[in-house]
Amino acid sequence: MKERLEALKQEALQELSFVASQQELNDLRVKYLGKKGPLTEVLRGMGALSAEERPVIGQVANDVRAAIEAVIEEKQAAYTKEETENRLRSEMIDVTLPGRPSQQGAIHPLSKVIQEIEDIFIGMGYTVAEGPEVEQDYYNFEALNLPKDHPARDMQDSFYITEEILMRTQTSPVQVRTMEKRKGEVPIKIICPGKVYRRDDDDATHSHMFQQIEGLVIDRNVRMSDLKGTLLQFVQEMYGPATKIRMRPSFFPFTEPSVEVDVSCAMCGGEGCRTCKQTGWLEILGAGMVHPRVLEMGGYDPKEYTGFAFGMGVERIAMLKYGIEDIRHFYTNDLRFLKQFLHV
Ligand code: DAH
Repeated sequence: MKERLEALKQEALQELSFVASQQELNDLRVKYLGKKGPLTEVLRGMGALSAEERPVIGQVANDVRAAIEAVIEEKQAAYTKEETENRLRSEMIDVTLPGRPSQQGAIHPLSKVIQEIEDIFIGMGYTVAEGPEVEQDYYNFEALNLPKDHPARDMQDSFYITEEILMRTQTSPVQVRTMEKRKGEVPIKIICPGKVYRRDDDDATHSHMFQQIEGLVIDRNVRMSDLKGTLLQFVQEMYGPATKIRMRPSFFPFTEPSVEVDVSCAMCGGEGCRTCKQTGWLEILGAGMVHPRVLEMGGYDPKEYTGFAFGMGVERIAMLKYGIEDIRHFYTNDLRFLKQFLHV
């Protein structure tokens, strides 16, 4: 029996010396030390031994078991160490590597210009109003003194959704909505920024969607000179204190009289250049005294109240301010374009 145990030990140690993986080591552990292994079998047979033999063989069996266990443990320790090292290596972070630069977002140049215009008018006591982009024909046209068959509707080719609903072609409908909301109270002093839509073919100066800012003031004794002073103040804050304005007679169905307003060209200071087509002036907005019929439809008695209104295209204001030559740049979102406005 003693020889069998010795042979078992030799066999086990030999096999263990060839072990090449954790799996093989596990298999050998089961094979030699497991419940169905040869060592257990020998120990089970000890009952048949004499009382003198039993402790001797027991001792040998324990030694054999201990010897095999020692080798297995040693190998196991090596595998555990290797595994830990592998894991540490794969999880290693090189803190000396340069960091990835984080992409910084920025406010779109149009949003910036809108904010700037808002700030100027807020400084003059205006509040900011808003209205829906999907608008009723009534607010977009009819209540602005443009009945269904009015030829001036052709000035603004529209996207209709139904007979009575369209994408607003201008921010002027917010004038009417504001008057309705204020129910005859004065003063009204609002500006309204927002998107508008027209069935235009896109080119360097046209976009089927663009942005406007509308202004409306209603009170007692509001005069044309108030409009002029307000707009002069606005352009001087926007384009610099030397900026001049001029008004030319024009026509809008919702104002009477109506004017178109030019600013002196900021590029050449009025000398004449390519931007102003050698005229020294640039048209920036339409304006006028609110038509009595519009006041009436909005619930204000034109004998008691007067008002002025104006509407400007934000893209145009921005293009003149920054010398941008193509309106499409605002909407194609080329980063090379947008990045130029990170710090303005
Ligand atoms: N809504 C006009 C347009 O889109 C611009 C305009 C002109 C607005 C005169 C006004 C105004 O409020 O008084 O062409």
